[in-house]
Amino acid sequence: MIQTSAAPAISPSKPPAILSLIGDTPLVEITQFDTGPCQFFLKLENQNPTGSIKDRIGLSMIEAAERDGSLEPGGTVIEATAGNTGLGLALVAGAKGYRVLLVIPDKMSQEKISHVKALGAEVRLTRSDVTRGHPEYYQDMAMRLAEEIPGGFYVNQFGNPANPLAHERTTGPEIWEQMRHDVDAVVVGVGSGGTLTGLGRFFNRVRPRRGIEMILADPKGSVLCEYVRTGKLVESGSWAVEGIGEDFVPEIADMSLVTDAFEIDDEESFSTARELLNREGIFGGSSTGTLVAAALRYCREQTKPKRVVSLVPDTGNKYLSKMYNDFWMAEQGYIHRQPHGDLSDLVSHRYEAGEVITVGPDDTLLTACKRMRDSDVSQLPVVDQNGRALGIVDESDVLVKVHRDPTHFNDPVKTAMTNKLETLRPKAKIKDLLDVFDRGRVAIVMEDDKFLGLITRTDLLSYLRLHMPKQ
Ligand SMILES: Cc1ncc(COP(=O)(O)O)c(C=O)c1O
Repeated sequence: MIQTSAAPAISPSKPPAILSLIGDTPLVEITQFDTGPCQFFLKLENQNPTGSIKDRIGLSMIEAAERDGSLEPGGTVIEATAGNTGLGLALVAGAKGYRVLLVIPDKMSQEKISHVKALGAEVRLTRSDVTRGHPEYYQDMAMRLAEEIPGGFYVNQFGNPANPLAHERTTGPEIWEQMRHDVDAVVVGVGSGGTLTGLGRFFNRVRPRRGIEMILADPKGSVLCEYVRTGKLVESGSWAVEGIGEDFVPEIADMSLVTDAFEIDDEESFSTARELLNREGIFGGSSTGTLVAAALRYCREQTKPKRVVSLVPDTGNKYLSKMYNDFWMAEQGYIHRQPHGDLSDLVSHRYEAGEVITVGPDDTLLTACKRMRDSDVSQLPVVDQNGRALGIVDESDVLVKVHRDPTHFNDPVKTAMTNKLETLRPKAKIKDLLDVFDRGRVAIVMEDDKFLGLITRTDLLSYLRLHMPKQ
């Protein structure tokens, strides 16, 4: 049975005023990139209340369902969502007193999942490696739940006409006014297709006969770019950018509105988003990188000056542990370090660069424990003031000391650490590493007296995965 986790204590007759802050987002010109002969502007949808463009459709789809009676008081709002739509729905439907149940594929960032839960929504995680027709495919699962739960309303952003309507009635007119009725091209991504269809319809109406180009920015691996170019539906690949790209053409996505399409790979999307933050101070999510990379390509290809608009669909806050985390980027192979061709290439956190969490021999075991918990590791190298690795302390070393008498948490680390170190020189072989792991240890890499860092099983697995021959 599904239990309501947090019953919203609100007055549905007068929802909170934050809902009136959805939309009317600012537009800013990009000045620190080469835009060829063009002017390039970004609409900051990351400034909506829950940090994404999807707040707009959260409001329009809930209000449309209230009007047509498919959502009644006491009802449950159910959606299959990669996160942002869930946030918009959790905010709007929660504010209006409905129960919200979201089905989310398990590749989605933890930040988004924590955020919808904090807003009071219930979450069902499901597999992200299955496609349409599989019972655990997120959309099929949401549809089934809506049939099973009395008063259930399946929002279905992929087929809901109130989704594109939100953009036709709000996003489009806002851009038009902010650009002073002077726009040549709009660059969008397609998740559900709501943004594309809504903006495309609006701009066709204000400047008919394809007066404004609609450019698709699509992650490499998605089927949409190829569909626009050739009309063919190819087999999809995989991509790590969140919120855009599809393995099918969504019902509400009017792909005939697209005039040109660019395919952007994950690495370019991530590096562009990071550059946008560094150069312009604009903190966007991963899809912002895809849109901006495609828009910049388009701008640079032009021979005449054009005014080009794109979006920052969501905030970078949701990607701090992924795209904005250098270790994650390196581990996934998106940041390339100079290879040395030896074991030092497997050291993910380098001591010299201040990347290794360590503890001193005279620090207390309490400090060691807190540090392990805060950084989510189960062992710490013990390093003295001169940068010499003296030992290693792990959770079981601490447990042995404190389990009978917790006052030993105040004892110095040196009384509990293991000082028989498994040190390897960078020139050692992977086989030597495996021997260390077989003895249940982590490897400490030392170049003479210099501590370079640790290598764990996870580091070796990441390294092997990155160096796996391409199929
Ligand atoms: C994170 C994110 N979600 C959603 C969208 C828009 O998708 P939809 O096609 O659902 O309007 C975008 C568009 O760029 C996006 O970047």
